[in-house]
Amino acid sequence: MRLSRYFLPVLKEDPKEAQIVSHRLMLRAGMIRQQAAGIYSWLPLGYKVLRRIEQIVHEEQQRAGHIPLLMPTLQPADLWRESGRYDDYGEEMLRIRDRHKRDLLYGPTNEEMITDIFRSSNISSYKDLPLTLYHIQWKFRDEIRPRFGVMRGREFLMKDGYNFDLTKEDALHAYNRHLVTYLRSYERMGLQAIPMRADGGPIGGDYTHEFLVLAETGESEVFYDSEITDLTFGDRQIDYDSKEECQAVLEEFTSRYARTDETHDDALFQQVPEARRRVARGIEVGQIFYFGTKYSEPMGATVVTPEGNRVPVHMGSHGIGVSRLLGAIIEASHDDKGIIWPEGVTPFHAGIVNLKQGDSSTDSACNAIYAELQARGLDPLYDDRDERAGAKFARMDLIGLPWRVTVGPRGLANNMVELTNRRTGESEEMSPKDVVARLAAIYAPVLNTAAIDK
Ligand SMILES: Nc1ncnc2c1ncn2[C@@H]1O[C@H](COP(=O)(O)OP(=O)(O)OP(=O)(O)O)[C@@H](O)[C@H]1O
Ligand SMILES: [Mg+2]
Repeated sequence: MRLSRYFLPVLKEDPKEAQIVSHRLMLRAGMIRQQAAGIYSWLPLGYKVLRRIEQIVHEEQQRAGHIPLLMPTLQPADLWRESGRYDDYGEEMLRIRDRHKRDLLYGPTNEEMITDIFRSSNISSYKDLPLTLYHIQWKFRDEIRPRFGVMRGREFLMKDGYNFDLTKEDALHAYNRHLVTYLRSYERMGLQAIPMRADGGPIGGDYTHEFLVLAETGESEVFYDSEITDLTFGDRQIDYDSKEECQAVLEEFTSRYARTDETHDDALFQQVPEARRRVARGIEVGQIFYFGTKYSEPMGATVVTPEGNRVPVHMGSHGIGVSRLLGAIIEASHDDKGIIWPEGVTPFHAGIVNLKQGDSSTDSACNAIYAELQARGLDPLYDDRDERAGAKFARMDLIGLPWRVTVGPRGLANNMVELTNRRTGESEEMSPKDVVARLAAIYAPVLNTAAIDK
């Protein structure tokens, strides 16, 4: 993309309505525009990051054998009357009546609908299980106080997945499998998200973990053993069909004390050595649940067992806050100049800054680097505007591209351009050819993910 042709409506002033840094930076960098309280348009730059996050979520779900589908945003109220949640959900549910006076609602989550899809399909045997279906779809919750930009919106994008299993044991394997996919997804986004024991809430259930990103602006108070922050999943291979392997990951990542205020138990916490006890704040970026037959039983979602009995399936649901993640990533990764995108989610892989637009040698060097990065599968943003260098650097710093290539006549005289790391601020001189090779090498792990359909 050439900046002269892009739509990047950055703000000069700090927006007054933004109370936290991620909200301020998303507005300033021209990523989102508020349309109503807690309802946003995703401008091109924000939309690009949203798509990158979605792509990671899709890849990691499908790597584990989970199957994508798409359910609508509007749901019939009758489904929710069957589960009893139409009345229970309260004012957070946006209720709508159509011209035929039928009650609809804008879905806050999809347990009822997916259970209906399962029961009305022709799946009738235990042999058709295990099954996990998921989608990434907009949700609406009429939050009483939408705030912090996309962190607590009313309309927000969520990945929600649902497992169907014959037994509790199989469903807990699905639970553990989701834990692994979540650890991998967040790490690919450059985040550490800690699984913490949580409370079932309106979805219900005994087994549930929330994933929290530590940040001062987080809405949850968290209590944990500092050893947990040393754990990383990394690029280890895992057999998702192996109950033992998935269970071992769950044990590794959940055996140390880590709880939110809702489940915090001070007596247990005191058993953690004092030097390792941490009280902090966190942003919830996901949650996994096992809830057994809570929906399958009242709604009649059953299968026939090997013994020939018809039983309700064991289910769980598993959510990732896709749009909230943009805020969480920025809270975890910024400085006073702007955003610092992790390579896994950056909207553009590198920025190219032309220090002397209109000079034929710098123009052609920039064009060549731009074309070669694209030929290597990278997505560069070329600032080809006739602007001062300082203004171009400030723009790149604000929008947070992890790497900047600076091209000027003085360096080019020696066949040199400059590569600058946004995070460290360190620069290195090298030839245009080397800069392309270097960036291709840096991004190889990011681009080399399995080619999986969206
Ligand atoms: N209002 C919201 N705006 C943006 N993301 C949200 C919102 N509510 C929930 N999410 C995201 O969706 C994920 C799955 O939804 P879940 O039902 O677990 O939310 P929740 O526990 O009600 O969230 P919270 O406690 O923050 O209200 C959450 O972990 C969170 O990341
Ligand atoms: Mg939750």
